[in-house]
Amino acid sequence: MFSFDFSLPTEVYFGKGVTESKLAETIKRYGSKVLSCYGGGSIKKTGLYDNIMSILKENGVTVWELSGIAPNPRVSSVRKGIDICRKNGVEVLLAVGGGSVIDCAKMVGAGYYYEGDAWDLCSKKAVIKGSLPLVSVLTLAATGSETNPTAVISNDETSDKVGATSKFLFPKASFLDPTLTYSVSAFQTAAGSADIFSHVLETYFNKGEDMFMLDRVMEGIMKTVMHYAPVALKDPSNYEARANLMWASGWAINGFIQGSKVKAWSCHPIEHQLSAYYDMTHGLGLAIVTPRWLRYCLNASNAERYYSFGVNVFGIDPALDPFEVASRAIKALEEFFYSVLGLKSNFTDSGIGDEKISEMAEKAAKALSPNAFVPLKKEDIEQIYINCL
Ligand code: NZQ
Ligand code: ZN
Repeated sequence: MFSFDFSLPTEVYFGKGVTESKLAETIKRYGSKVLSCYGGGSIKKTGLYDNIMSILKENGVTVWELSGIAPNPRVSSVRKGIDICRKNGVEVLLAVGGGSVIDCAKMVGAGYYYEGDAWDLCSKKAVIKGSLPLVSVLTLAATGSETNPTAVISNDETSDKVGATSKFLFPKASFLDPTLTYSVSAFQTAAGSADIFSHVLETYFNKGEDMFMLDRVMEGIMKTVMHYAPVALKDPSNYEARANLMWASGWAINGFIQGSKVKAWSCHPIEHQLSAYYDMTHGLGLAIVTPRWLRYCLNASNAERYYSFGVNVFGIDPALDPFEVASRAIKALEEFFYSVLGLKSNFTDSGIGDEKISEMAEKAAKALSPNAFVPLKKEDIEQIYINCL
């Protein structure tokens, strides 16, 4: 039997110009004192910042700012945001940026209602019991944070990167204008595409029950990324490509494709240590780890899954032996990540040595669920890291 809960409480406004036409009225449903959260300045370069500020001012909204939110957002930014909200009676959060900005804003909203330190909520020491309403304007297709209930935050003091999930973390509304992603660099487009692909792959390679319909949807999303990421790299202002990547970003991780599958991912906890220790770009880390993880986990009891992946996603000859299909599928995935997307293929070229492998493997092993596709111990993860060098 397939049994599961699914709810997508985020309103989505999709298409060119949606921010101009609907942002002000949407925000004003929740209040008129806004904390605008953004990153290192890309939105100033593209003109989006000026555009949004004038829309808000024209509509009588008072704005405070939390700027400089870093990729792999730090808990220090979250604490700063909570302070501004409390001092000024902020009523609504506006996140303008990629996953890092949205995640940081999510935890500002949750931390506002928590007396203790925000890290308690990020690290699940304390339970999230409420949040300020959040509206997001997405500028990078990657994490799916725009329509999901998760935030991933880093702590430099402890070299930790952790994800918190709560129904309170769904944005109230998200604005998805594909033209806002035209300015995303080739590297971030590639890393974001690898991230979307990985969110689906982590669900596809899963111990839980398989629903035919959802398996086909997942294969469709992976094929969409493979089809449109190269188009966006070649022609950054291609609306069709940016729109497909942007919509794929959300559907890869908003809970829909998960159905009754076990919510236990593997490559993400393994990658998060790379971001925590080396500030590595999330999607790049996943592109390096994923093929090694697939190769390490292949065995007689799960080869059928690799077979479906190889045949249905990469069009490999179904007459071949499942192990041969699996091996060709992993090679095809490497070809996609490293040759088509142009991402680096190993740790050494990305400035990562073997000095932290044992420490990282220990943390990843603790974060990995015993219900993972293939349960992994510290030594297994160490070997996967070594294979990435
Ligand atoms: O900071 P700014 O100046 O805005 O520049 C950003 C940043 O340098 C730039 N960028 C964003 N939109 C742009 C743009 N540059 C030009 N034009 C635009 N339109 O891109 C860089 C990366 O931004 P970031 O937000 O860090 O990227 P991404 O969206 O990939 O987010 C990554 C973070 O999300 C977490 C990752 O671990 C990482 O911390 N994740 C969040 C998840 C979630 N909430 O569910 C799940 C994911 O698996 C992931 O773990
Ligand atoms: Zn991810």
